[in-house]
Amino acid sequence: MLDQVRQVGRQAALAAGALLKLNYEKPHDITLKGAIDPVTESDFASQKTIISLIRQTFPDHGILAEERMDADMGEGAKGRGPWPSPQETTTPAYRWIIDPVDGTVNFAHGFPMFCVSIGFEAAGVMEYGVVYDPLRDEIFEAVRGGGAWLNGSKRLKVSGVDNLNEALVATGFPYDIRERLPETTARVGRVLGATQGLRRAGSAALDLAYVASGRMDAFFEENLKPWDTAAGMLLVTEAGGTVTTFTGEPYSIFSDNIAASNGLLHGDIVALLSA
Ligand code: IPD
Ligand code: CA
Ligand code: CA
Repeated sequence: MLDQVRQVGRQAALAAGALLKLNYEKPHDITLKGAIDPVTESDFASQKTIISLIRQTFPDHGILAEERMDADMGEGAKGRGPWPSPQETTTPAYRWIIDPVDGTVNFAHGFPMFCVSIGFEAAGVMEYGVVYDPLRDEIFEAVRGGGAWLNGSKRLKVSGVDNLNEALVATGFPYDIRERLPETTARVGRVLGATQGLRRAGSAALDLAYVASGRMDAFFEENLKPWDTAAGMLLVTEAGGTVTTFTGEPYSIFSDNIAASNGLLHGDIVALLSA
């Protein structure tokens, strides 16, 4: 089955990504889900494309997707995500975890940093992940125990940077940032004061893919959702990196926060984040 999962996951990510690329330069229909949390027509269209393709091959698999949609996958009640809601489902044996646009704020502003992210888990274990950046035509894929790959041919490996002074670190801020400013800015300050650079590019799934690729040396963020990290966490671990919580506990896609690194820096990063 895993071969079919890979085929379907890849096909869905490419199809959804093509749709995003097409819509990127057009005007957007934007609705707010919260004070600063937008959703566009393309989030819904991408999610609909991905779910339709998965359903063709795996009609019985569970789906956990960011945007709220009606059962017929129409647009439904906009902005009430996720689909289906956690109350509507128990953990299925097989589950696809979908972020139809990771980086919606960027997408809506015309800032070229967003992607499609799809993870597949069996019995709660992440088996496959794909992150597709349609503007750069980069597809990052990982299979548990099979490594992580860029565009199907280049094996991904985390960086060899072993000291914070040379480390390029990524972070992001959750949509409820206004309620957690002092704590978050203090943490960011500690990382800024100890590393070579800190980036906030606006797509957690790409941040994780970049750690897996060795382009970034570490990533941290609080209050991410399962669809933000499902594929990316597998990319990092399959590329030889480490993913935990801020306090170094094993990471689950339902954890409150995430610290990902090339492994060499992990102790130092966790020490900064949990200080
Ligand atoms: C967001 C992005 C962003 C991160 C936010 C996420 P969305 O996802 O990953 O980088 O900082 O916390 O919610 O809303 O664009 O799918
Ligand atoms: Ca996201
Ligand atoms: Ca999203």
